[in-house]
Amino acid sequence: MAKTISKLGVFTSGGDSPGMNAAIRSVVRTCAYHKIQCAGIYRGYEGMIEGDFVPMDARSVKDIINRGGTILKSARSDEFRTKEGRKKAFDQLTKAGIDGLVAIGGDGTFTGAMIFSQEFDFPVMGIPGTIDNDIFGTSHTLGYDTALNTVVEVIDKIRDTASSHNRLFFIEVMGRDVGHIALNAGVGAGAEEILIPEEDLGLDRLLESLRRSKSSGKSSSIVVVAEGDKIGKNVFELKDYVESHMSEYEVRVSVLGHMQRGGSPSCFDRVLASRMGVKAVESLLEGKTDFMVGLINDKIALTPLTKAVKGKSDINLELLRVSEIMTT
Ligand code: F6P
Repeated sequence: MAKTISKLGVFTSGGDSPGMNAAIRSVVRTCAYHKIQCAGIYRGYEGMIEGDFVPMDARSVKDIINRGGTILKSARSDEFRTKEGRKKAFDQLTKAGIDGLVAIGGDGTFTGAMIFSQEFDFPVMGIPGTIDNDIFGTSHTLGYDTALNTVVEVIDKIRDTASSHNRLFFIEVMGRDVGHIALNAGVGAGAEEILIPEEDLGLDRLLESLRRSKSSGKSSSIVVVAEGDKIGKNVFELKDYVESHMSEYEVRVSVLGHMQRGGSPSCFDRVLASRMGVKAVESLLEGKTDFMVGLINDKIALTPLTKAVKGKSDINLELLRVSEIMTT
């Protein structure tokens, strides 16, 4: 028998991403639209265990759709990995009259939500928020599009100085152990080489490609390296290796780091967040639980959390071929 929801809790967890605030806004306003209460939970599962809640209404989320980060903060919680910690969270939610959850985060967030839901028969719905785009069941996670635009903008700037000094740049981007950011931003920025964990090209292949670029008259080169790349070396060792094998290049390194997690969300991420928030709340109100809201073939769709946390987000092989052709 589906539970009736009277008060929803919403929280953000794991690495923050642009669009999380837009999703919070959508969840809160959809609750207001359906005349059910909503509480913000600060700092993810850590705040849930501490009962760090704040009532939220339609006005609580004004002027945040355009803000990066998350007004509810985020944190990683070891205590929630324990049954005792989850019981504390359950007791806090019960005390606050919260009878359903919308979890905005990545696969770690959803794993915790799934276990919690099963242990306490507690309705949960997931919204994929991470720049990595590494979650099964959606073509886009919240923040991915914004991160791509941030990375392309930065690479364009680096290319100015690379071409001024005839330098080769290794640019490391985020993505944890997948290469979506590197591949898409690399193609978008016209990188000469893109190194991703899904494809181990090997160092010889890299040198051969760089030599080909040089002999074709390219005076500078940009190599985008996914942080999870398995070529066997970190980006600084890659620099040393190439410098020792290609005296014709002066090599520099830029590690973009956490700037990729910030910034005002793109229109795409704002619209996606708004769509996902409505679907998450209305799915809970329809009695559904343990699903993740995703974008599949441009439609908002539900994927069981069990699949979302176990599935893989495959690299786009057609785009991989495009990148190979573009680096001719
Ligand atoms: O998952 C998002 C992400 O930015 C990854 O791309 C990156 O590897 C990781 O988080 C960094 O984690 P932290 O913010 O804890 O340093």
